[in-house]
Amino acid sequence: MSVADPPISTGERWADRLICSKTGESGELDRPEFLSPAGAPWLVHYRLDAAAGPAFKAALAERPWNLWRYRELLPVKDWDRRVELGEGGTPLVRLERAVPAGIEVWLKDESGNPTGSFKARGLALAITRARELGAVGVQLASAGNAAIAMAAYAAAAGLCCRVAVPVDAPRTVIERCRLHGAQVIVAGRNLAESGVELARREGDFWELSTLKEPYRAEGKKTMGLEIVEQLGWSLPDWIVYPTGGGTGIVGMDKAFDELEALGLLAGRRPRFVAVQMAGCAPIVRAFESGLEHAPPWESPRSRVWGLRVPRAIGDFLILRALRATGGTAVAVEEERIEIEQKRLACEAGLLVGPEGAAAMLALESLAAEGRIERGQRVVVFQTGHPGNYA
Ligand SMILES: Cc1ncc(COP(=O)(O)O)c(C=O)c1O
Repeated sequence: MSVADPPISTGERWADRLICSKTGESGELDRPEFLSPAGAPWLVHYRLDAAAGPAFKAALAERPWNLWRYRELLPVKDWDRRVELGEGGTPLVRLERAVPAGIEVWLKDESGNPTGSFKARGLALAITRARELGAVGVQLASAGNAAIAMAAYAAAAGLCCRVAVPVDAPRTVIERCRLHGAQVIVAGRNLAESGVELARREGDFWELSTLKEPYRAEGKKTMGLEIVEQLGWSLPDWIVYPTGGGTGIVGMDKAFDELEALGLLAGRRPRFVAVQMAGCAPIVRAFESGLEHAPPWESPRSRVWGLRVPRAIGDFLILRALRATGGTAVAVEEERIEIEQKRLACEAGLLVGPEGAAAMLALESLAAEGRIERGQRVVVFQTGHPGNYA
């Protein structure tokens, strides 16, 4: 454990309840909750007051550069029993080469997280909360990084773990999950079918799939908090994010709301760009059609595993964030990914995963169209290490 200081408030948590993201109904914080009665994601609500902002900001100066520095904005009850493997505190790197001329591009490189991806942030919180609320086992369906992260954090917490992966999931993912002691069910042609298979199994396993419990979004939220700090308490003009279930967009949007409520942020919000693959782009299609929800993608096809998500339970939250910020959604062609990974390695010394390459390609398209303008500041997410899919 690295953070020994007490919360800057009076020792209480600022988190006070759950809120249904659809209806606004309240839920109890310290009870196991998955989806709300309306079938929508629960989000954690905090009591926030601009008077507490300056002390919160000052306290950060004394704390280690990792996810747990934002403790007042995290929902953990038993602080000393948090499950920590060194997550968060990732670099924000200014790119000078291999980027569109005249645009200030920063890469938020999440590949240095434990288990090699940003999924560590969400699963650190979800597993911490699952254990403190009484879980003995956890499960989810995933084609890649979420499975590896859950297996690792469950091992660290001493919880049983079960994952379901599609039949064509990379071998590395299956082996890494087994290495961490997880039971791996290989079933289904895609995430939705693997999920159906998982639901058929018995046992006391809590479901930790994206936005089907309230805490992974809290972990992902810290990416937004870090960006604000790394940019000197300011915001970029754009955030380009490879989007599957969309926890990152939902989480960062929430982070900015919370910093604003603390009086630590004002002004125009960054425009979110949701990046998906042309072979599985439900959010892009719904955005372009003006829909509030995204109908499931019928035959998802992509080797960019993190983006092969045919249906997002938080679709309306992602779409709302894109529209409210004046953002957009971009689909990227599969065959451009590998070329982009090679280009970035060769021209800029960057080793990016396919999802990060997709985000960089979206940046280039938006810059070429003049949508992202010269002089603007853009944060692009590189979310996972390519080695996880080897
Ligand atoms: C490397 C990578 N990038 C992006 C995503 C999509 O993330 P989100 O669920 O936050 O949209 C995933 C999800 O699996 C992933 O593994």
